Amino acid sequence: MLAIYPGSFDPVTVGHLDIIIRAAKIFDRVIVAVLQNPSKIASFTSEERVMLLRRVTAGMENVEIESFHSLLADFAIEKGAQVIVKGLRAMSDFEYEFQMALANRHLNPDVETVFLTSGAENMFISSSMVKQIAGFGGNIDAFVPMCISEDIKIRLNRGVSSK
Ligand code: PNS
Repeated sequence: MLAIYPGSFDPVTVGHLDIIIRAAKIFDRVIVAVLQNPSKIASFTSEERVMLLRRVTAGMENVEIESFHSLLADFAIEKGAQVIVKGLRAMSDFEYEFQMALANRHLNPDVETVFLTSGAENMFISSSMVKQIAGFGGNIDAFVPMCISEDIKIRLNRGVSSK
């Protein structure tokens, strides 16, 4: 069974990686899909976000990284995916995720949204928190995968902003 795990991943955190590892154990193949969203200002370009994810998931044989710039429901049809994986951290995520799951079901009734939860130690981590801490020179080592931590610090210290 093929699952898509979509997101902005701006940048990927240990919370995202936790969900990817769990999804890769459940599903035959997992496509981590990076949204290229021209209307949202991102700190990392979609190419950078894809490259960071590829480094973090290197060696995970059933995980692929792609970017998309369409409706998720259409991307799922294009890929022949049966499942959308989303990470749920807290009840505060639920209302928005529930709304998206129902909208995606309306747009593509053949795909089911499945919610996974990360380990308790990763539940509070978000990309925006990582950016805020790194932006003020704080230590993000516990929040992003070790192999990309230095690159993220350098990149965020440059203060470059792109779409
Ligand atoms: O990491 P994020 O920013 O919470 O991810 C949000 C994402 C990419 C999953 C969501 O914005 C999305 O699916 N966008 C694609 C466009 C789309 O299909 N929108 C309608 C969904 S209701």
